[in-house]
Amino acid sequence: MVMKISIIGAGYVGLVSSICLSELNHTVTLIDNNLDKVETINSGNSPIYERGLEKALIKHINHNLRSMSDYDSIPKSDLTFICVGTPLSSDSKTDLRMIKSAVESIGMALRNEGKNHVVVVRSTVPPGTTDKIIEPLLQKYVRLSERNIKLAVNPEFLREGSALQDFFQPDRIVIGCRDAWAADRITDVYKGINSPILRTDLITAEMIKYASNAFLATKISFSNEIGNICKSMGINTYEVMGGVGMDHRIGAHFLNPGVGFGGSCLPKDLAALIKLAESHGEHPLILKSVLEVNEDRPMRMIRLLEKRLGTIKGKRIAVIGLAFKNGTDDIRESRAIPILKLLIEREAQITAYDPVAIPPMRILIPDIIYCDNAGEALKDADACLILTEWPEFGELNEEFDMMRSRVIIEGRKVLSTQYSEGLCW
Ligand code: UDX
Repeated sequence: MVMKISIIGAGYVGLVSSICLSELNHTVTLIDNNLDKVETINSGNSPIYERGLEKALIKHINHNLRSMSDYDSIPKSDLTFICVGTPLSSDSKTDLRMIKSAVESIGMALRNEGKNHVVVVRSTVPPGTTDKIIEPLLQKYVRLSERNIKLAVNPEFLREGSALQDFFQPDRIVIGCRDAWAADRITDVYKGINSPILRTDLITAEMIKYASNAFLATKISFSNEIGNICKSMGINTYEVMGGVGMDHRIGAHFLNPGVGFGGSCLPKDLAALIKLAESHGEHPLILKSVLEVNEDRPMRMIRLLEKRLGTIKGKRIAVIGLAFKNGTDDIRESRAIPILKLLIEREAQITAYDPVAIPPMRILIPDIIYCDNAGEALKDADACLILTEWPEFGELNEEFDMMRSRVIIEGRKVLSTQYSEGLCW
């Protein structure tokens, strides 16, 4: 069944979702108030790097996908997905300003005209937000029951770098909704995708997203803690976690120790969940430790570097991998940021390389030497730190011969050279 869908927010989630929904043959309008972004998308260029995304964008743009800066498509749509950002404010609470503004715009667009409609919250919002904030706000503009306008929560579980695959082959689709008709409409949207569909109420769907990300973060910090113990006992952590992950009750994924987790979701959602727990009088001991273990990873890497090099001052350090993981140019909460800052504080001479993330990092940290390839960064380096697992880093070999001394520390296990040492393996 072909549906008319509006999506608000051409950020990572909105852009990927709109292109993937076009691929499912729906007619999609992607709304964003940034005119430059709208034009970029309409000319077939993706504002973000994501494998396969631009190719799919070119296929659909100006066919069954278009981008607009106004909300005119909403009354003619069957569903509107809200995909705007929900960043953390300085006090670690979730900043809902963009959500509220999107909801007001939807309310105004639906006020006078429109058919049956489902407003779907796809942004990550603290449990209770849709019920307690979004619904009353929308009611100010339009009487939902009189007009058959329903609210739903449909969290995304897209990993950057494999977002298209995750969209079309999800482990589950979660639909939080009070109304069976509206939940059926969302089920229809995903027709053609073969995965279990879990229907819940609104607040449960919101909490599933937070609990999932918190659990993934917990697996990583747990692996890092085991890694620390293994390293000091001379045990290979990767072999250990490989054996641990073979237990189906545990699962093999997210057990890779290293420099810790970054990105736009895991750190933010964990911090928000901790804040939320505390606001309900809870003491989330595990969640706080997960964050604490993660925050120590960059410093741990610097401590190891100092152990191998002595003083860092004046030494040439190559930092390879700048994004928060491979397969993306996203540097949000990248572990490279604190590492670069710690190196700058220690007056190192820094050379840096990443296949796609140099432009955003150059804006954030301009005063280091950015190189066109890993070999150039490694030339004459006293030490190198590998921070992401791009497969091309795994092929580096004779490039290390150009280093002044072979101190190679991996924050992600990717190299095949025998001279490297892992942060915790
Ligand atoms: C995450 C969730 O996986 C996704 O479901 C959610 O919707 C958005 O947040 P993403 O931020 O793209 O996705 O990255 P993810 O692949 O989960 O990795 C997060 C961080 O953890 C990265 O820095 C990664 O390098 C690190 N990581 C991951 C580890 O350190 N070890 C692992 O074993 C796995």
